[in-house]
Amino acid sequence: MSRACIPLLSLLLVAGIASGETIASLDSPGGMLTVSVTLDADGRPGYQIARAGAPVIADSRLGFILSDSPKLERGFRLEGVERKTHDQTWEQPWGERRFVRDRHQELRVRLVEKRAPGRRLHVVFRAFDDGVGFRYEFPVQEALRDIGIVEELTEFAVAEPATAWWIPAGEWNRYEYLYQKTPLADVAQAHTPITLRTESGLHLAFHEAALVDYAAMWLRRSGEAAPVAGQRLRAMLAPAAAGPPVRRSAPFATPWRTIHVAPTASALYESSLVLNLNEPNALGDVSWFKPYKYVGIWWSLHLDTETWATGPRHGATTANARRYIDFAAANGFRGVLIEGWNRGWDGDWFADGSDFSFTEPAPDFELEAVAAYARERGVRLVGHHETAGNVARYESQLGPALDLYARLGIDSVKTGYVADAGGIRTAENGRIRYQWHDGQFMSRHHLRVVTEAAKRRIAVNPHEPIKDTGLRRTYPNWVSREGARGMEYNAWGHPPNPPEHEANLVFTRMLAGPMDFTPGIVSLTGRGGQRIQSTLAKQLALYVVIYSPIQMAADLPENYAKHAGAFRFIRDVPVDWAQTLVLAGEVGDYVAIARRDRDTDDWYLGAVTDENARTLDVMLDFLDAGRAYTAEIYRDGDDADWRMRPSSIAIEERPARRGDAWKLGLAAGGGLAIRFRAGE
Ligand code: NOJ
Ligand code: CA
Repeated sequence: MSRACIPLLSLLLVAGIASGETIASLDSPGGMLTVSVTLDADGRPGYQIARAGAPVIADSRLGFILSDSPKLERGFRLEGVERKTHDQTWEQPWGERRFVRDRHQELRVRLVEKRAPGRRLHVVFRAFDDGVGFRYEFPVQEALRDIGIVEELTEFAVAEPATAWWIPAGEWNRYEYLYQKTPLADVAQAHTPITLRTESGLHLAFHEAALVDYAAMWLRRSGEAAPVAGQRLRAMLAPAAAGPPVRRSAPFATPWRTIHVAPTASALYESSLVLNLNEPNALGDVSWFKPYKYVGIWWSLHLDTETWATGPRHGATTANARRYIDFAAANGFRGVLIEGWNRGWDGDWFADGSDFSFTEPAPDFELEAVAAYARERGVRLVGHHETAGNVARYESQLGPALDLYARLGIDSVKTGYVADAGGIRTAENGRIRYQWHDGQFMSRHHLRVVTEAAKRRIAVNPHEPIKDTGLRRTYPNWVSREGARGMEYNAWGHPPNPPEHEANLVFTRMLAGPMDFTPGIVSLTGRGGQRIQSTLAKQLALYVVIYSPIQMAADLPENYAKHAGAFRFIRDVPVDWAQTLVLAGEVGDYVAIARRDRDTDDWYLGAVTDENARTLDVMLDFLDAGRAYTAEIYRDGDDADWRMRPSSIAIEERPARRGDAWKLGLAAGGGLAIRFRAGE
């Protein structure tokens, strides 16, 4: 289809925004969603999305402002379209589910400027029944080779009034904010994923997939008022230290812009949209990475009873490390993380990280001997590279640092980028520059670490990371990350994480991918006795609710000794799943998730609630038909409440069968964990 001119009469004017004429449309495989691609009278491209015929995304702009070429956003005509159908099931090496179905319809819209030099821009849409992804392609062309992107004009105009759950973008604390629940029109500038519930009950989320060699997309309120005032969000690319946020050479494609469209909060979390829009595994055999649980010299540092720095309270001593290794070996945990093992923590380490050595241990820590001691006991150390944001220094030592770990049998590393947003220190041509944690520079840096680590069969888990956009599919050694407020805030945060925090995370941050939340603080006590706003049973539930293929048992060994009954669940719970189902959930209120172990026929259930006690009705129709199960239940005691009696827990067994209808009682700030042991 090609159009030389657009009949002016066919233009619809909706509250001042010209709705363009549809030049191509795309239905999702089941016909649930329809994407319409539009060109307005000025040849400005846009798109709309409808669900079951009702508008979800109103006419929203597409295009760019460039630094070395006129803006690329109007005067287009349609040159042609290409379509593809796709329905394939692929297998994850590890994950929330073993098999993922990728069923979508694809439409490539080829646009060309009507006037010389006739630059070309392609937009590729993929429609799934639970969401849409689209990305721009810059094909090879004389008139557009080296491209500086000053602004991406992509918009998301939400058609119905909506409530949003979001954290601010462009603020100093990266992604470590409490989620706010506000009218969408009150969102100023937000990170993605941002989650919405519309007036009619639809659940939407905006995010991105495959953020490679590009700046992260923030979303900010656009000044345009239609169709619902304040509900038009526009892409804002994380800035670069100098010049435009993105510099690339054609040909290249941007990350996918993703729009989840789901009838319920449960369906939102169950979607595989982001993973499906990533490229398949680029690393080949990754069976060397096995999901695991770990313990470590960590919570004591956040409690400030031990220190990262050397001195009388140094946590990372040889003797202390051996104690943790023995504890791990005795309880079947594969990993032991030891923070403060290296030189550079003395003094003000987070000032600029300029003392960090990634190859030299602290004087009172015998790295080689400790690693050997661990190996002899079937335990592996988990490496730690805190950079304090000094990426220049880290990159200069990266090769030898990873070689050292490979030689010692250390096959995963937690990295860290503690620095204010905008404070990542880099050196370009000998000049110091400061970058954002999620700009193009850091998208390159993280992939460099991940690919260098993969060459040595090392898995990576960054804290203060760039956000997750599903790259674990392409690089399965990028196993987890932080990128939200984790458990550490319960040690020293003002305020600590509120009871609703995890019910927010599941439907926001967790749409992006795994999180190294570090659950399992059975003492329920932070620094100086600060009360954690959780019951004991909820700490167990988090192992099922907050997905990660590496999970920490984050409390001190002596605290687990005091809670042997509850600790049994932490020892038993797997970290790799064949299947995941959300049984019930509302954003920020509660969630119940069932997951089937990848290695046995057992199922596990985790449920958490906010500050309100509640009873959830669930059907056990996920269990195998005709099979008897024994449910090992860890529930809030009848008198439990996170304020009054947080440690009250009832541990009991009960038979279970498919089709049973159960009521799950959750205390205020509470939770529930169940292992369904499969019998005959
Ligand atoms: C922040 C990380 O989130 C935390 O886990 C770590 O202990 C400190 N940085 C020090 O690296
Ligand atoms: Ca952190």
